[in-house]
Amino acid sequence: MPYADTVATVRSWAEDRSIAVWTLFAGDLPPVAQAALATELERVRKDGAVVVLVVPDDVSPTPVERRLADVVVRGPMPPAPYGLLVALAAADVPDVGRLGLLGGSRDALEAGRCAGAGAVIGIATNGPGNRRLLLKGQPDRIVEPGEFADLDASVYGSERRHRERVLLNPGPTVVSDRVHRAVAGPDLCHREPEYSEIFERVKAKLFRVAGVEPDWSLVLIAGSGTAAMEAMVGASVRPGRRLLVCRNGVYGDRLATIAERLGIEVVSVKAADTEPIDPAAVDAALAADPAIDAVAVVHHETTTGLLNPVHEIAALAAARDVRVAVDAISSLGAEELRLAGSGIDFVACTSNKCLHGLPGAAFVLLSSAGTARAYLAPRRSLYLDVPGYLEAQRKSSVPFTPAVPAVYGLEAALDELLDEGVDHRHTEYRERVAYLDFAFERLGLEPTVAAADRSSSVRSLRLPEGVDYERLHDAVKRDGYIVYAGLGQAAGTTFRVCTLGALELEVLGGFIESLGRGLAEARLVNAAARLTAEAARAAQVMTGVSAAPSAPAATATGGRRRAAAGG
Ligand SMILES: Cc1ncc(COP(=O)(O)O)c(C=O)c1O
Repeated sequence: MPYADTVATVRSWAEDRSIAVWTLFAGDLPPVAQAALATELERVRKDGAVVVLVVPDDVSPTPVERRLADVVVRGPMPPAPYGLLVALAAADVPDVGRLGLLGGSRDALEAGRCAGAGAVIGIATNGPGNRRLLLKGQPDRIVEPGEFADLDASVYGSERRHRERVLLNPGPTVVSDRVHRAVAGPDLCHREPEYSEIFERVKAKLFRVAGVEPDWSLVLIAGSGTAAMEAMVGASVRPGRRLLVCRNGVYGDRLATIAERLGIEVVSVKAADTEPIDPAAVDAALAADPAIDAVAVVHHETTTGLLNPVHEIAALAAARDVRVAVDAISSLGAEELRLAGSGIDFVACTSNKCLHGLPGAAFVLLSSAGTARAYLAPRRSLYLDVPGYLEAQRKSSVPFTPAVPAVYGLEAALDELLDEGVDHRHTEYRERVAYLDFAFERLGLEPTVAAADRSSSVRSLRLPEGVDYERLHDAVKRDGYIVYAGLGQAAGTTFRVCTLGALELEVLGGFIESLGRGLAEARLVNAAARLTAEAARAAQVMTGVSAAPSAPAATATGGRRRAAAGG
């Protein structure tokens, strides 16, 4: 699966079948299956697939087998995979991921897997015994011959629902092939030394990315970013003390909710969702309440794409010997975050945002003062217990089962980031968002946050007059792009575009074109609805008959939730 490298890739994701060539081996399927597949393959062909029959040496294809196929090629007997590559070349498809194999035997299925086919389908003909046999060939699915066309339409066809798209939501992100491949690493027992070695490598790479020395600690958790937030908050406050929470968006509010659920008393410093937290207000709150033990602040409030002045806040808190806990979930990797000597003691983060890994691995980085604090805080949770993780690490172990594939993915993503260079990643994010800012202005879209406070990856934009979010969302989704709803105080009147992940600038160009069309379509649909309603009202006045406004003239847009007519 390629990452979002070109507009052509995105168009192919949005429009094309994922499997372009279905192959079968002559002599592999029993006559009854061949006959049943004939009508099924006809449907698949109508949707644009090519069917290729691979004829092994010394096998004569039956007339039915010949009729099943558009192309016939010769190749060695399965499980040798080479005939399938000949089939791919004959169909002029350059990507083995778009090759599918229909197999009635373990050998045929094995050939499909060895070739690297994007789909390996077992065709079951003789009850459960046959299915168990096919299982040994490790197909992706097993179906009866008569079920194949439905499977093709729903999973591999041009109208399939579940497909690769450009994610312009604030994580999880589109990731590179390299990360996808890494996730499929070896099965691994986390109690073996190999896991500890991986952990130590991930730790060293994370420290390099974060720019901290080995006196920092790492707690790696199987969970989403909120698990890291919860572990961090729970470890930051001693008994009977308070947590000052900076709140200007839903994630600041979430930090406060977590603290309250853990039984920690909260003091809040608030600002509007579109305004950064004022460091002077934090300093004043600290001066007023000596029981405050730590300050918690979100670096990048993804609610609106706003950056909080974490360095200023941390310096003020450190001067009062107060620990600082930062949610850097959507900033680490993309924004400048200076940790060493900054006064920041805890950093909560996750693999699947600006680090370009996959969901499932969250983590907390702790300075030496943060680590010391964690041992003084009450053990408020069993699973999210920072000292528990650190103790286990000391014995080269882990307290709970880690999300091994997500950790594989995280390591590959960190390698990628270090190969690219952290500074280069920052620059690339800034270039991408600068391009978007320019394009948004031309489209008349207005960001809700002042330029000086905006992040390098998230834009919260006012929905233009007459544009309904659901319609806009569905229009760009048809072209292969996912935008995100507004959140927080301006939820109903804004939407968000986020450029996290493995995205090339060219792809953003494709998105802007799509967005322009989507905005025009959403405005037209809305105008049509208004006109229809007005016409209905006029008819009512003229005839004195009650006429209900009819639905807008536009067609359905294939989205998740239909918006009400008009708006
Ligand atoms: C700043 C911030 N904090 C916390 C979270 C929560 O992360 P998760 O959904 O992985 O639990 C998010 C998610 O978008 C976020 O952007």
